[in-house]
Amino acid sequence: MDYRRLLDAAAAAALATAGQGRVADYIPALAAADPEAFGMAVATVDGELYGVGDWERPFSIQSVSKLFSLALALAHGGDALWRGVGREPSGNPFNSLVQLETEHGIPRNPFINAGALVVTDRLQSLTGDASGAVREFLRRESGNPLLDTDPVVAASEAEHGHRNAALAHFIASHGNLENPVETVLDHYYAHCAIAASCRDLVLAGSFLARYGVRTDGTRLMSRSEAKRVNAVLLTCGTYDAAGDFAFRVGLPGKSGVGGGILAILPGRAAVCAWGPRLDQAGNSVAAVTALDTLTTLSGCSIF
Ligand code: DON
Repeated sequence: MDYRRLLDAAAAAALATAGQGRVADYIPALAAADPEAFGMAVATVDGELYGVGDWERPFSIQSVSKLFSLALALAHGGDALWRGVGREPSGNPFNSLVQLETEHGIPRNPFINAGALVVTDRLQSLTGDASGAVREFLRRESGNPLLDTDPVVAASEAEHGHRNAALAHFIASHGNLENPVETVLDHYYAHCAIAASCRDLVLAGSFLARYGVRTDGTRLMSRSEAKRVNAVLLTCGTYDAAGDFAFRVGLPGKSGVGGGILAILPGRAAVCAWGPRLDQAGNSVAAVTALDTLTTLSGCSIF
């Protein structure tokens, strides 16, 4: 596959979306992002690395971190996780409260905020430092020792985190948190506020393209578990736009309100695109367009 040519075509299509969508501002620190930035990277299963545009520029990974917290919670704790969180698409916005009440504090899936809070809680129980575990994994896989939480973004999230606090308290009222609400929220904000580049994220996500095998050749999870994570990414990774994302892009993927999307071509590569302007569902307009272009031109998706 000629990734260089594909990345150039994807970047051209993404640039043509200039001006569409809005930079997230419900976390005030995110509003400082450069709305016209765009980057994209590919890491193949056998170690080739390609990039275009701002592919080495760090951005706030936000919900892309939920892919890693889920993978680490499963790797450390196995199937017990699924007692506290489901794996069905929610069909609701990522920060919605409505389903939790009728569904007894068990969030629909690990990628809506409610579900990610439960995953962070379990990872905290398993490791004693949930956000540190995510950060260390990203550092090791990307080989970037400077990768870190942006304290300004984390503080901004905490200051404006009434909805996440409400979700966490509601889940706790159903007995579905093992750690204090404040601890869970702190670690959740700290992993969402990690700053990383497309380059860092494709390397860190490439274990899913290798069916569970890390960059150093050791296994993080079984092939079956990697399949399951990819399945949940496909059905729930882009929130209530997961159907449209599967239709357009045809890959498992995880988006974040910082404008990044990390997608997996199982057996081939991890791909990450980033542009801060978001559509109504909270997915990057430029990144979805770029990934759509890559799979359409290459004819390579999971379908
Ligand atoms: O909790 C929040 O709202 C953010 N830390 C993460 C949300 C997010 O990235 C959803 N993505 N589309």
